[in-house]
Amino acid sequence: MKRIISEGIILAAAAAVSLPVSADTPGVKVEHLGVNNTLVRVDGDARYLLMPVQEANDDARINILVDGKLDRTMYVRLAKSKTDYMVPFDLTPYKGKNVVLNILTSQGRTSVREASNDACWSNFVLADTFDTANREKYRPAFHHTPLYGWMNDPNGMVYKDGVWTLCYQWNPYGSKWQNMTWGRSTSTDLVNWTHHDAAILPDGLGTIFSGSAVLDPKNTAGFGENAIVALYTSADASQIQSMAHSTDGGETFVKYAGNPVITLDSEARDPNMFWHEPTGQWVLMLAHALEHEMLVYTSPNLRDWTLRSAFGKGLGAQDGVWECPDLFELPVDGTDKKKWVLLCNLNPGGPFGGSATQYFVGDFDGAVFTPDLDAEGKVPTKWMDFGKDHYATVSFSDAPDNRRTVIGWMSNWQYAAEVPTMQFRSANTLPRDVSLFTGADGQLYLASAPSPEVDAMRGAVVKKAGKTSLSSKPREYRLPTANDGICEIDLDLAAKGAAQVTMTLSNAKGDKVVMTYDAAARTLAFDRRESGLVDFSQDFPAVTVAPVLGGNDKLSLRIFVDRSSVEVFGDDGQMAMTNLVFPQEPYTTLSVSAQGKADMASLAIYGLNPSK
Ligand code: FRU
Repeated sequence: MKRIISEGIILAAAAAVSLPVSADTPGVKVEHLGVNNTLVRVDGDARYLLMPVQEANDDARINILVDGKLDRTMYVRLAKSKTDYMVPFDLTPYKGKNVVLNILTSQGRTSVREASNDACWSNFVLADTFDTANREKYRPAFHHTPLYGWMNDPNGMVYKDGVWTLCYQWNPYGSKWQNMTWGRSTSTDLVNWTHHDAAILPDGLGTIFSGSAVLDPKNTAGFGENAIVALYTSADASQIQSMAHSTDGGETFVKYAGNPVITLDSEARDPNMFWHEPTGQWVLMLAHALEHEMLVYTSPNLRDWTLRSAFGKGLGAQDGVWECPDLFELPVDGTDKKKWVLLCNLNPGGPFGGSATQYFVGDFDGAVFTPDLDAEGKVPTKWMDFGKDHYATVSFSDAPDNRRTVIGWMSNWQYAAEVPTMQFRSANTLPRDVSLFTGADGQLYLASAPSPEVDAMRGAVVKKAGKTSLSSKPREYRLPTANDGICEIDLDLAAKGAAQVTMTLSNAKGDKVVMTYDAAARTLAFDRRESGLVDFSQDFPAVTVAPVLGGNDKLSLRIFVDRSSVEVFGDDGQMAMTNLVFPQEPYTTLSVSAQGKADMASLAIYGLNPSK
């Protein structure tokens, strides 16, 4: 990924952990008021106050006082015994003003003296730069990641004038979930992303949870033709829905003075909107999280919303909470016939534990979603992806050429905060274009294929092979070494009869990912139990299994390897499987073998060159 630093953030040479140890950092005055309460006064013209973080600590509550008034509150795991990394608090908006941090730490102390020994107090730094140079070996090369800090769901995804905007749930003050803010990145090719300053910051109504954005070509909201209008959840003691708009393509968002625009007396979040042409109105889906249902609202103007129906109680996977809905119409099997697809993310309750995306296929009349039934007259449970690391997936609004392009969060709430990275946590999935196809059982299923833009990354073919017969003796192929081994592996398999074909990615450290295609069972299994670092969470080592829905014994695979993830797409996305891996060093070898009679009809291994 091209690393373009947002305006004003310049790379600094210093590593975040080499800190000046001084009780009186110039411009920072520390006064202890009690065992758990400290004032930090900031003086001078520096752009950033860099704050030392120790991840194992609890959050300190920091009230930012500007000229004596409470500006906002943030929660930061201030360092106690050692500093893991620094996070920047941007002082630009407060130039010429008096800034005081009123800090409440949660650690129980016996005395002020003990509290005053915390590492953080002498390690606040005033600086004009913040070092964002990547120092993480597991940071993906061709998947979107935040420049620093924690990320979860994709938000406010919209396409306008050739630019894809991807906002996201972001903690700018640490690499664990907190301080939810909409971060913002943009791209013209869905692969290389430019990082920008935060799009929407917490306010008196709460932190900024997930939501969506649309273009308003008819100016129904009154913010101007083609304004970008975003709806998000303001989350504090309750969850309410708020609106913001942008008339400069997403550069700046202005919050609606009449917020919130939707309130309920129970937990509801992640508003997702679209224009419904047949009824000439806006439709909004809202996750009624604990009720396991999606609420349907309509509006003429994006601010006055009427509740029309609820879908989902008792249907599909019902565990955990329902979150992040999306509803869109797709052609069936590339014909003129159309059906609606409701994405319904849930956590926990996924097929392999933790978070996952289920979906329903059906009809929608502008107010009510009616699901299709299976042969037994039941509403089937369907999964969009059969890995452990595909969540909060929703689509871009207004994508060109009638495309429906989705991006998910490539992690799982079971262990997202424990994965072995620190400067940043979490990446997005590859962008995928979705379509509907008829499975061998006659039902409609959602295919997720890598978006065409992904093909443009292909570099040199490092291996190409025609028809090759497979046996129990593995055939070995070298993977590319450039750029930490990032690659695409395309394989066409023809398993004759009851064969099992095994494809293994491995390295000299003994790390391996074992993928097994079972032609008789019509499944593909992905075993990451020995894939590298796995013991940071008991939920990480796993075998995930996908049904192969096509009606014959062939399977055509595209496998994308990017430093800490493997995404497997079968038969043009009819099967998708997304799994994180943390190999001690990049995988260097692909081995392919078979039990029973099988052919590899073709093989191509490409190096990838994302920023060409
Ligand atoms: C899903 C989710 C959303 C919520 C957001 C908070 O991962 O729980 O429902 O809006 O994350 O960060």
